[in-house]
Amino acid sequence: MVLSYCYRYTMVISVRDALASLRGIESDDIHGRQLISFLPHLLLSTSFSFISNLSFMGFIDVIKRWRLANKGMSSGKKRRTSTASENAVVGSMQRSVWIKLLIYPAFTALICLIVAFYRSDHTLFHVSGLRRGLLCIIVSAGLILIYHTRQTLNYANEKVALVFGGIAFHLVLVRIAIHIIDVNAWSADYRILLPPLAFAPMIASVLCGRHAGVFSALSVSLFGAMLVPVDDVFFFLITGLITGVVAVVLTRSVRRRGSLLRAGFYVGLTAFILALAFDKIDFSEMMQGNGLSVVLGKTLLPVSIGLLTGMLVSGLLPALESLFAITTNISWLELSDLNHKLLRKLQLEAPGTYHHSMVVATLAESAAEEVGANAAMCRVCSYFHDIGKLSKPEYFIENQGDRNPHDTLTPTMSAIVIIAHVKDGVDMAIKHKLNPKIVEVIREHHGDSLVQYFYHKAMEQRDDMAKKVEGGLENKEDIPEVDRKNFRYPGPCPSSRESAIISLADAVESASRSLKKPTPEKIRNLVNEIVMARVTDGQLDGSDLAMSDIKKICKSFASTIRSMMHSRINYPKEDGQNKKGSKSASRAEKKDKKEAVVEKVKA
Ligand SMILES: [Fe+2]
Ligand SMILES: [Fe+2]
Repeated sequence: MVLSYCYRYTMVISVRDALASLRGIESDDIHGRQLISFLPHLLLSTSFSFISNLSFMGFIDVIKRWRLANKGMSSGKKRRTSTASENAVVGSMQRSVWIKLLIYPAFTALICLIVAFYRSDHTLFHVSGLRRGLLCIIVSAGLILIYHTRQTLNYANEKVALVFGGIAFHLVLVRIAIHIIDVNAWSADYRILLPPLAFAPMIASVLCGRHAGVFSALSVSLFGAMLVPVDDVFFFLITGLITGVVAVVLTRSVRRRGSLLRAGFYVGLTAFILALAFDKIDFSEMMQGNGLSVVLGKTLLPVSIGLLTGMLVSGLLPALESLFAITTNISWLELSDLNHKLLRKLQLEAPGTYHHSMVVATLAESAAEEVGANAAMCRVCSYFHDIGKLSKPEYFIENQGDRNPHDTLTPTMSAIVIIAHVKDGVDMAIKHKLNPKIVEVIREHHGDSLVQYFYHKAMEQRDDMAKKVEGGLENKEDIPEVDRKNFRYPGPCPSSRESAIISLADAVESASRSLKKPTPEKIRNLVNEIVMARVTDGQLDGSDLAMSDIKKICKSFASTIRSMMHSRINYPKEDGQNKKGSKSASRAEKKDKKEAVVEKVKA
């Protein structure tokens, strides 16, 4: 910073001198009014120096890296700390106040362009006081609805843009469909049967949740009703709302692309049933001339349009996910493939960590389901949360054999190696272009908690040395300094419910491995102890988890660990081992029963 200001100051002074020499005046004579006349030049030079300053600091960074690389202490490359999508335009959209102020007027203008300027003698736009009033009420209701939904859901800018963009695109499709009917002079009934009914609700529901889906269904019904003939307004409103809600219900927790086609089919079927109920399809017409083909066309049209809508949504999803940095359950399911390069490497080089990650995934997924968090995301992020251990797998207890490499290291060095797995994990995830949410979980899964084991080991070593100094065996200078800060993970703490659940599942799984002779009571106590320690340490403060959620999570962890330990005891072994195993298991069971009886007697 000091360098930066020095540089800026010298730049301003040099510009001032340059200007003075240009006007043939001594630089010391520049005062008062003369300085005011130079203000624009000074502003220009300051901004120039600011830009130059940035490149100057970047230049210093390059020199620093080059010097470290020459000493063999750096690869010379700059470390990336965020994924490409984190840096995308979407990132700036989320933070920008200007974007916030632009979304509503832009949407209103777009709607006016699509709906209000559509002139037809048959629609609500036919000049008449009553109809104008009705139009105003509908538009106002729509805008109030938009406002309230925005306030209740507190959407990020990009999600608002996505929902409103979906509504606008849906209305464009409706208008194109009506234009095709007008040009070809088809029957008026097709004005209801041809336009897509559930495109915007489906997109909003899959990408932003059911509230956004229902909001989109309401909006497209209201605005779409302004494009259809006056006689069909009521039918269009009812059909739009019902099919929209059907689409939202069917796509609420969609996990496969095929489910979108199924949802599209049921939306079409609902539209067909409603058309039948409102006499838009009359089967008695079948007997007249070419009535059979007309009725067949009217029957198949809504179903085909529904299927096409499902296909269109399915096709657009990957592009929309990437553009708006949203990951749907469909993508999470695709990401849960265990054949990923990093997971296969983890399985081969750090089998203990791989197994640990699988158990954490099961624990986190069940707990997330209990509290209504994203279970699919929890599973996938848990798979990858410890990939950083691939750099030095033998330094982590779950991968150690007979030799413990920490025996030859000081506790401070051991803590450095352990803590580094978070940074290594983030680097690997970015290098392999993993989802930004996975990178976030890797970065946050230990929060800024303490590496307890090595911290206590360092304290013990310091106390031993202090005793030796008291006994006159060592010098006072040899007592090592133990700074608690050096034994803490760098953080940040979990910032989402899913990240917090994974962090807790990670801690609980690691602790449960050391549990001897597990009983339901012991498991429950251990889980409560670990979770409450995290809560009191402030690790979950930014995660938005309520105490009621934490209670449910504890209950879910205890139940999952119990069922997992139960299955381990009953795991079948081969031949001789099986017999030995079953004998020891039955012996253990008898012992447990005896202990239980003794406890009962004592009670
Ligand atoms: Fe970890
Ligand atoms: Fe872990």
